[in-house]
Amino acid sequence: MKPAHKLLFVVCPMLVLGFIYYSSGKLHLHVWGQKPLFDKQGFMLNLDTKLPLDLAYKYGNLSEGACKPGYAAAKMTAIYPKSKPASMFLDRNFKRLAKVINYLPPFGFRTQERIIDVILSATKNYGLGPELDSLICKRCIIVGNGGILSNKSLGSRIDEYDVVVRLNEAPVSGYTRDVGSKTTMRITYPEGAIQKPERYEKDSLFVFSAFKPLDFKWLRQMVYKEKLVRLEGFWKSVARYVPREPSEIRILNPYFIQEAAFQFIGLPQNNGLMGKGNIPTLGTVAITMALHNCDEVAVAGFGYDMNTPHAPLHYYESVKMSAIKESWTHNISKEKEFLRKLVKANIITDLTNGI
Ligand SMILES: *[C@@H]1O[C@H](CO)[C@@H](O)[C@H](O)[C@H]1NC(C)=O
Ligand SMILES: *[C@@H]1O[C@H](CO)[C@@H](O)[C@H](O)[C@H]1NC(C)=O
Ligand SMILES: *[C@@H]1O[C@H](CO)[C@@H](O)[C@H](O)[C@H]1NC(C)=O
Repeated sequence: MKPAHKLLFVVCPMLVLGFIYYSSGKLHLHVWGQKPLFDKQGFMLNLDTKLPLDLAYKYGNLSEGACKPGYAAAKMTAIYPKSKPASMFLDRNFKRLAKVINYLPPFGFRTQERIIDVILSATKNYGLGPELDSLICKRCIIVGNGGILSNKSLGSRIDEYDVVVRLNEAPVSGYTRDVGSKTTMRITYPEGAIQKPERYEKDSLFVFSAFKPLDFKWLRQMVYKEKLVRLEGFWKSVARYVPREPSEIRILNPYFIQEAAFQFIGLPQNNGLMGKGNIPTLGTVAITMALHNCDEVAVAGFGYDMNTPHAPLHYYESVKMSAIKESWTHNISKEKEFLRKLVKANIITDLTNGI
């Protein structure tokens, strides 16, 4: 035998043995389970993960209280390594969004491509506007509608944020001491939108979040100021007129609904269709959007305290907490588990401590 062949005879069995040893080690790890690092959703179990060194170093140089560029995304990636970037609103390239193109509303926009094209060709604007888009560091706050906002005088703190996000018909006028007066955008769907035209605040973006195909038709009629002809198919009355110019209207990237539902919260996939308990609340969708698009994220007015059934559910009406019904669409408790992770990991700041 040639020496080279001899060597092969020795090396091959060694490689095979090595491989077996290696894979049994893997198997061993898998079967006997060293401590798992991740939970079922893919979040690190250890939520107080440190920032990457370069960022920690960079932030160390910032003055006390300054906005930290890239903070939310870096923290999120640290506890959820699968995190990927996603833009806030749909733009003319929306058909390239691989993750949403194959899902029907609310998790994507399949079947609605044509109507979205028509809407986007009228709105012609796909960002927050030149001033906010050019900020090196954006601080965003999502103002939830919870009664927990009442009598805390957080209004001036809320107004300090660069981007103030409000949801549905939550009023500002009459409540500014507690909820602030600035509204950068209002995220809403047909049934949730403000119905009285005079109640719309000036200088805010009307951000549309679709839950069903019909919602896109409604939006087209609002954008083109057409008379709303078909009203059946909505689960309650809807706004018939939105006093906003097309340039002040945006379509929220449906990816945030999909990601919040299936990845972050772990709601039932239901073959990618809307089903029992698999729709995240608009508040959590807005937080998901902010995690991808803001450098720092805060929330206020989130969280229901079921131990105080007589406390008000919303800050703007006297309906009591006890009125909240078992929801068919949402899974509040599972959603709260996700939001608690964000608070524990210091990714979001909860001004009202309700999460
Ligand atoms: C932080 O400040 C120090 C001292 O001024 C400087 O040498 C260093 O380059 C700065 N680091 C970063 C990441 O800006
Ligand atoms: C807030 O204060 C007002 C006036 O003092 C009071 O009537 C109301 O009940 C308070 N709301 C809550 C939720 O404590
Ligand atoms: C919420 O999720 C929990 C745990 O998966 C489940 O037991 C419960 O039935 C769900 N609730 C709703 C309303 O779907």
